[in-house]
Amino acid sequence: MLDWDTPRNTAQPTFIPSSSLADTTGLGSIDRSGGRVSVDEKAMINCRADVNQLLPLKYKWAWEKYLAACNNHWMPTEVSMQADIALWKSRDGLTEDERRMVKRNLGFFAASESLVANNIVLAIYRQLTNPECRQYLLRQAFEEAVHTHTFQYIVESLGLDEGELFNMYREVPSITDKAAWALRHTQGIENPSFVTGTPEADQAFLRDLIAFYVVFEGMWFYTGFAQILALGRRNKMVGIAEQYQYILRDESIHLNFGIDVINQIKIENPHLWTLPFQEEVRQMLREAADLEAAYGRDTMPRGLLGLNATLCEQYMHFIANRRCAQLGLSYVFAEVDNPFPWMSEAMDLKKEKNFFETRVIDYQSGGALAWD
Ligand SMILES: [Fe+2]
Ligand SMILES: [Fe+2]
Repeated sequence: MLDWDTPRNTAQPTFIPSSSLADTTGLGSIDRSGGRVSVDEKAMINCRADVNQLLPLKYKWAWEKYLAACNNHWMPTEVSMQADIALWKSRDGLTEDERRMVKRNLGFFAASESLVANNIVLAIYRQLTNPECRQYLLRQAFEEAVHTHTFQYIVESLGLDEGELFNMYREVPSITDKAAWALRHTQGIENPSFVTGTPEADQAFLRDLIAFYVVFEGMWFYTGFAQILALGRRNKMVGIAEQYQYILRDESIHLNFGIDVINQIKIENPHLWTLPFQEEVRQMLREAADLEAAYGRDTMPRGLLGLNATLCEQYMHFIANRRCAQLGLSYVFAEVDNPFPWMSEAMDLKKEKNFFETRVIDYQSGGALAWD
């Protein structure tokens, strides 16, 4: 008869959380005498309540984002690449500037999706001590895998040089500089010995959330979407443009989840959101906009499709100010108009049915399973 209480391999070290620390992993020894979790005990970080009990829900916004994300399920291979392949292979289908922009854009996203996924799995998940937020993170991690799959599918369909594309984050300075900036904020957090619980550590965790959710997914991705959607609006690379619309829909939920997480941590830990820290966050957004301006100059040296480096810089200032407002911070740049108002239309997929005239893309995943 099996004895579940006796460890079968006593040679293996057993992790027993210190009595002074909460088991934030959910994988420590079972607390047999612990009471059932009440909503009031749940917290975003440094939570002492059992992280294995999803219910009762405390943060309904996290659960609703999980449900919305599941309803948005898509796969890159559902999108036809035939028109893109014909255009890419035709000698005069695209200008040299358009090809440069497309390739660098794909190169930026191809590695960035992995950086974001690795940050979720190896840095954020362990520190976010709430089961409904973790449920969303599990879904988001899968979506980042779908996005990486998209770039594999594009590379394969168009016959691109995979080494060139997937190494751009190491070889093209304007892309390397962005990746290196973001990585600075995850290094340390992904270290297995890192734990939250001091103001310094909790602020380091907030910096990582801001670098990845607000800057990477909430600022830099948006120039990338604008570049490809500008092509799609002119009926060029319509397959990639459609895939980018799906990615944009996913990413807008990722961004909003990140903003909600940061704001909830602020509410529960007001001592972290000091004036110097707020100024530091504003400085992070300024640096991020500068890095993006350099990327704009590098990918669009002459301007094309109604885009140019100056307009992209203005777009980043507009977006950075919006992100400040979402975080309750004062603007970092002078108020500017959105130079790409058509991007808001591209973000509302319900209006998109005739946008590229490809197919109905108000996609909801299928109905009941058929077993026979
Ligand atoms: Fe993504
Ligand atoms: Fe994302």
